[in-house]
Amino acid sequence: MKLLAQSLKSLLERTKLSLDKLLIIGSTGLVGSKLAFAAAGHGFEPYNTQNARKSPFPNSTRLNITDRDATLRLVGEIRPKVIVNTAALTNVDYCETHKEEAEKVNVGGVRNLVEAALINDCRFIQISTDSVFENNEKVRAVRDQYSSPTLADNLAEALLRLAKSHENGVFHTAGRSCVSRQEFVIKLAQVFGYPTSLVEPVFASEFQQVAPRPKNCCLRVDKAERSLGMRFLTAEEGIRQMRRQPQPQGDSSDRLC
Ligand SMILES: NC(=O)c1ccc[n+]([C@@H]2O[C@H](COP(=O)([O-])OP(=O)(O)OC[C@H]3O[C@@H](n4cnc5c(N)ncnc54)[C@H](OP(=O)(O)O)[C@@H]3O)[C@@H](O)[C@H]2O)c1
Repeated sequence: MKLLAQSLKSLLERTKLSLDKLLIIGSTGLVGSKLAFAAAGHGFEPYNTQNARKSPFPNSTRLNITDRDATLRLVGEIRPKVIVNTAALTNVDYCETHKEEAEKVNVGGVRNLVEAALINDCRFIQISTDSVFENNEKVRAVRDQYSSPTLADNLAEALLRLAKSHENGVFHTAGRSCVSRQEFVIKLAQVFGYPTSLVEPVFASEFQQVAPRPKNCCLRVDKAERSLGMRFLTAEEGIRQMRRQPQPQGDSSDRLC
């Protein structure tokens, strides 16, 4: 019995040694937490970073990516095969009114990570910024802004496939649909069983938004689907999948983004 336990332990250690290390920057966020949750299932040994909030995942180290020395030190210590950066200031209105801070994190932080990846010969995956949908409480919905809502699980799957592949370049990783905010809210209401009559269409110009939003930020995902061998969900499929998932109290990790 003791021998069996020892062999099992050594097999586990050997398997662990052969796994590629994946460093997830920002594992307390929506996309980062999905990645941290799914990484082991894709054959990676995940390492995580946390910033202001505490990460619920093991192997988590506190890191503020604007701190160049700390970033270089952490990456040098872990020496991951792949780094995925999901850390960012994602509130576009906040970024508009705090431009210096936004640039420090969303530009300077990325620069530090790129430098660390180059020094340590790591594959580096950076997610571009996009606006993040909140939830279906808002009844006034913009009818003249279009985007491709993305289920965070779907995005995490794409990132893990990209982490494993040898493909380089720019990939559009988003939902397959191009819908207005109004259409999206109506779909949400339908799937979650709310009356669609509560959705009041408005023009973007009627909203007081600090940061201007693009009229159309839909993305074509054909290249990513072909390269990664996967299919992105439509907005409706994403909402239905979200509906089936358990909704932990106080956790935003099942939002569509
Ligand atoms: N291309 C697309 O289709 C698409 C779709 C959705 C999202 N995105 C992008 O994916 C990225 C992640 O989105 P998300 O929804 O997961 O955002 P989120 O939930 O707001 O999470 C942001 C993460 O960044 C961390 N962070 C912020 N400032 C930091 C700093 N100075 N140092 C280290 N970590 C820091 C936060 O940690 P603390 O909270 O602990 O500070 C948090 O873990 C964003 O760039 C977003 O725009 C892209």
